[in-house]
Amino acid sequence: MSAAPENPLDALPTLADSIGRTPLLPLRRLSAATGSTVLAKAEWLNPSGSVKVRAAARIVREAQAGGLLAGRTLIDSTSGNTGIAYAFLSAALRIPVELVMPENVSPERKAMIRGYGAAIRYSSPFEGSDGAIRLCREIVEKDPGRYFFADQYGNDANWRAHYEGTGPEIWEQSAGRVTHFVASLGTSGTFMGTGRFLRERKAGVTLISVEPTGAIHGLEGMKHMASAIVPAIYDPRLADRRMEVETEDAYRMVLRLAREEGILAGFSSGAAVHAAVEVARTNPGSVVVTVLPDGGDRYLSTPVWEDIVAGDQR
Ligand SMILES: Cc1ncc(COP(=O)(O)O)c(C=O)c1O
Repeated sequence: MSAAPENPLDALPTLADSIGRTPLLPLRRLSAATGSTVLAKAEWLNPSGSVKVRAAARIVREAQAGGLLAGRTLIDSTSGNTGIAYAFLSAALRIPVELVMPENVSPERKAMIRGYGAAIRYSSPFEGSDGAIRLCREIVEKDPGRYFFADQYGNDANWRAHYEGTGPEIWEQSAGRVTHFVASLGTSGTFMGTGRFLRERKAGVTLISVEPTGAIHGLEGMKHMASAIVPAIYDPRLADRRMEVETEDAYRMVLRLAREEGILAGFSSGAAVHAAVEVARTNPGSVVVTVLPDGGDRYLSTPVWEDIVAGDQR
């Protein structure tokens, strides 16, 4: 007797299986005058809406494989997107999650995390992501047996997610033509993992990291390394060049992305694309690849969004 045929519906991927393999979009209008090609990874199309789900999923999978999540709650500090990603995975994979974040992250982020059913602990709105890191460490130190500290800033699974995902995808989608890779720095996972992979494939590729110009900035998710707690996974030697972007320039590029390319992206995408277009302009004939970490819809209720749109009309 032959075995009963397998149900093909059982093979359908779940949302958690559908992380990565995002489109690489040509920014034709923004790069038209540069004499180069600018390509951007559409990371807001990931489940839970940002690039951070790549790292979060890898962290969770490695912890599960190592038995580190058995009977424990995953805890981490996050400025928002990683939190949403963990919260999504918490629901999708049925693991308890607790997140520590600055009280002033955008209302959409808090609402999404609570929507997925994860718990939130708030750190001081005046201490940014570093305040969340400090509070998270305190909570874990007080009750180490209760938690698996995911530590996105120090966990190698973060950059490995990009070394094995984002990097190979960019290599294939650009048919190996990428000459420059530009990425904004938060934990640095995207830059470190993708950069390492591309460098191994093509020694001559130029790797450019992007930071805000100072400690006080309006680029949620990004870090000014010189004045911040430096992530353990960050190695500044990988970058051929560091670029700094003014908040205002990033905001202007957010509007240009929306109006010239039809891409409603977040603020760190504006920073990355501002830098990428500058690299394209000063290196004619190049193929510049960058990453759009999240979508603009996460920021629509922030006062600054009104200012950005109003400023354009003045
Ligand atoms: C909106 C946004 N942009 C950029 C980044 C930086 O990505 P990475 O942590 O991989 O450096 C983050 C990280 O949290 C982010 O949330």
